Amino acid sequence: MLKPEDNELLCRVGPGTPMGELFRRFWVPALIPSEIAEPDCDPVKLRLLGEDLVAFRDTNGRIGVLEERCPHRRASLFFGRNEQCGIRCVYHGWKFDVDGNCTEMPNERPETDFKHKVRIKSYAAAEWGGYIWVYMGPAELKPPLPEFEWATLPPAHRWQRKWHYSANWMQGLEGELDTCHTTFLHGGIDPATLSPGLTESTSNWAKDGMPELNVRDTEYGYYYGSKRDFGDGTYNWRLTQWILPCNSIIPHAKFPISSRAYVPIDDDNTFVFGSSFNPEAPMTQEDRDYLETGMGAAPKLIPGTFTPEVNKTNDYQRDRALQRSGHATGIPGVNNQDRAIVEAMGPIVDRENEHLGTSDVAVIAARRKLIRMAKDLADGKEPELPHNPAAFNVRPIDVTVSQDSLDAVVSSCGDKLRFAAE
Ligand code: FES
Ligand SMILES: [Fe+2]
Repeated sequence: MLKPEDNELLCRVGPGTPMGELFRRFWVPALIPSEIAEPDCDPVKLRLLGEDLVAFRDTNGRIGVLEERCPHRRASLFFGRNEQCGIRCVYHGWKFDVDGNCTEMPNERPETDFKHKVRIKSYAAAEWGGYIWVYMGPAELKPPLPEFEWATLPPAHRWQRKWHYSANWMQGLEGELDTCHTTFLHGGIDPATLSPGLTESTSNWAKDGMPELNVRDTEYGYYYGSKRDFGDGTYNWRLTQWILPCNSIIPHAKFPISSRAYVPIDDDNTFVFGSSFNPEAPMTQEDRDYLETGMGAAPKLIPGTFTPEVNKTNDYQRDRALQRSGHATGIPGVNNQDRAIVEAMGPIVDRENEHLGTSDVAVIAARRKLIRMAKDLADGKEPELPHNPAAFNVRPIDVTVSQDSLDAVVSSCGDKLRFAAE
């Protein structure tokens, strides 16, 4: 359980909230490049951490992320004209560049000099690793871009998708840090519908529904090892990575593996940025075709939107006959199953009435660390991680070995895990 005041602290991310401030120390993915594909493209609305913004590319290709409302009389710049290195408000013609300077004020006489006294709030933006990232914190603390392994790879090594999650960001993240549910929620799936890597993983999950969890705190968040006892002297170990504040990388028996960032739109809505990647080789067409089906690490979308086809308006396409035949949920696809459960908890789950057991230690550890860091920041202690971009470059692992201690597994895997200093 979590006290209501701690639940509020954990979940709420608007300006001035402790968790919102912690998020504002990190770069977060916010758009896919095709949303603002060309210089002088149409501006798009962007809601991020509870703030309404517009994004565009100027004539020189620079990315602008500005407050949506014009500082004159608060008209929406979504209606604006993106022209000649700036966006012009269509109400009275004030024009702003990507840095937030007012460059033209055609309804004021030049002698007033008013345009030099007005600015619009602007945020730093950068294209990196297949996404457009935004930094919303103090300019003097702006860190380098994080070197997630998938972001450093050539585009041929990854497959990416952005989708809407109709719940608070932490609910989605907690689903990622909960290996125990895989045995049950994702159980009974017809192997013919799975990718080869997932077939092996799901058969491992089925062999032991009571994995033993061990969490190891790190500078970037933590990793945790789950041990499933196969009863024949071997153990399946899954080492999952949690990278502050909202990123997971989930292990699979075979590449590709999948990283997801749960980026808050506001307190009740999230955009997930999923990156499935193979660090060692370009993704095969078979891998890409499977991901496109929506049955694996990411959902299939309603064309022209970021809304999953399988969603709450169609009861996640739940099929009771399939469920009666042995499938756990009757819902098609691993990601859809996760989303159904988490979204149906409500926008912000009532954590006061939970009853957490030993299988929840990883969820508990993430909550504690986030709450502590948000409180530390409110007390003036800045997080160090954003300024160490190499620390984001870690990898999960899924192995079946004879070692029965986490430390022995970690030392035998060595560099493959690329754990940062503990
Ligand atoms: S409201 Fe934008 S120029 Fe007047
Ligand atoms: Fe899941």
